[in-house]
Amino acid sequence: MGRKVLIPQVMQSSATELPYPDEYFDAVFTDPPYYDNVPYSYLSDFFYVWLKRSLGDIFPDLFASYLTPKGKEIVAYSHDKGGLEEGKRYFEEMLKKSFTEIARVLKPNGIAVIVYTHKSTSGWETLINSLLEAGLVPTASWPIHTEMKSRLRAKESAALASSIYFVCRKLKREETGWFSEVKEEIKKYLQDRLEHLWNEGIGGADFFISAIGSAIVVFGKYKEIKDFQGNIITTEKLLDYIREVVTNYAVHQILHNGIAEELSPLTRFYLLWRWSYGEARVHFDDARKLAQSTGVDIEREMGRGFIKKEQEYVRVLGPQDRKLENIKDSQELIDVLHKTLLLWKMGIKGEMKKLLTNSGWGTKESFYRTAQAISETLPQESQEKKLLDGFLSGKDRIISEVRDSGQRGLF
Ligand SMILES: C[S@@+](CC[C@H](N)C(=O)[O-])C[C@H]1O[C@@H](n2cnc3c(N)ncnc32)[C@H](O)[C@@H]1O
Repeated sequence: MGRKVLIPQVMQSSATELPYPDEYFDAVFTDPPYYDNVPYSYLSDFFYVWLKRSLGDIFPDLFASYLTPKGKEIVAYSHDKGGLEEGKRYFEEMLKKSFTEIARVLKPNGIAVIVYTHKSTSGWETLINSLLEAGLVPTASWPIHTEMKSRLRAKESAALASSIYFVCRKLKREETGWFSEVKEEIKKYLQDRLEHLWNEGIGGADFFISAIGSAIVVFGKYKEIKDFQGNIITTEKLLDYIREVVTNYAVHQILHNGIAEELSPLTRFYLLWRWSYGEARVHFDDARKLAQSTGVDIEREMGRGFIKKEQEYVRVLGPQDRKLENIKDSQELIDVLHKTLLLWKMGIKGEMKKLLTNSGWGTKESFYRTAQAISETLPQESQEKKLLDGFLSGKDRIISEVRDSGQRGLF
């Protein structure tokens, strides 16, 4: 019996204009550009000029242009007229066009697997809106570890290690979902999923985007989501809610349960920041969203000392970045912890014990557990971690001395 041999065809065309008839493919697999992450065509030029010399005669059509074609490239560039805003608009329009093309060439029961990652919430809003408007409804998602931690971009910024793989289908979407019900549905669905993701060792910013990937499966089945006053719930608002659910779960887990409720919003914010972004700076909008999910108004807390705005970015300072004399006399756990660590580092043990006694934190288990949890989120080489670990190694003695001096009314 003769075996049918399928010869794969490779062809070059823009994803926005696929040269195939309607309902042609059983499956489409694609890994589109991620917003403004990588300037592919410019990077390719480096290789293109050399490949053109070696392969130009064999594939003249592929090497017809002087440099790589750039006109239809789906990337949010900022260098053309209109700057980044125009770049974003173009990216969104082109991404939607290519998803619409995928939906067109896909058979009614076919599947599209789409890979995506982005650390900003607006990057996710674009993907979600483009997919759903094109008629591709995610029915499953999973994060896959695709990036190297040591790569250049990962060092300076809070880069992600995973990409999310979505399985999408051409499903008929339900007309309306009611926000209060969809919220319950998302919460219920995420409970299992978050546990699964956590047990798989997915952490930090990757945990958030994996949760977004999971939640799309729930809310993507509705054409629109409304509250009972008839207001349309935007994707942005849905993502805010998802963040809230994830934050609550993550804070409990980071602290190994138990004391999460005792902590102030600022402490939860600090802990979550370190866990999500380590010591990297983060775009203001994402910082604001993370703060909001812990109940912190970031603009109001900007003057506090450890939340610092640097142009359009935000950095959360560790004790080593602060000056003892600038830390206010505050009862806030993070301020007391930072002051304690600085006094410990300078060897001013008497002042340190006085601070721990008078603030009341020195004998509280939640203080040390928070310090331990912060340390666990940081890499070995972090200065903050070294300070925390050094301080915590003498924890039992410190507690008994603070208790002792408190009882004797020494301070
Ligand atoms: C995330 S990368 C894919 C990387 C690929 N999975 C790999 O491992 O090499 C996105 C790719 O989409 C390409 N791209 C950008 N605009 C396109 C368009 N209009 N049509 C087809 N591909 C496009 C970029 O050149 C880039 O190679």
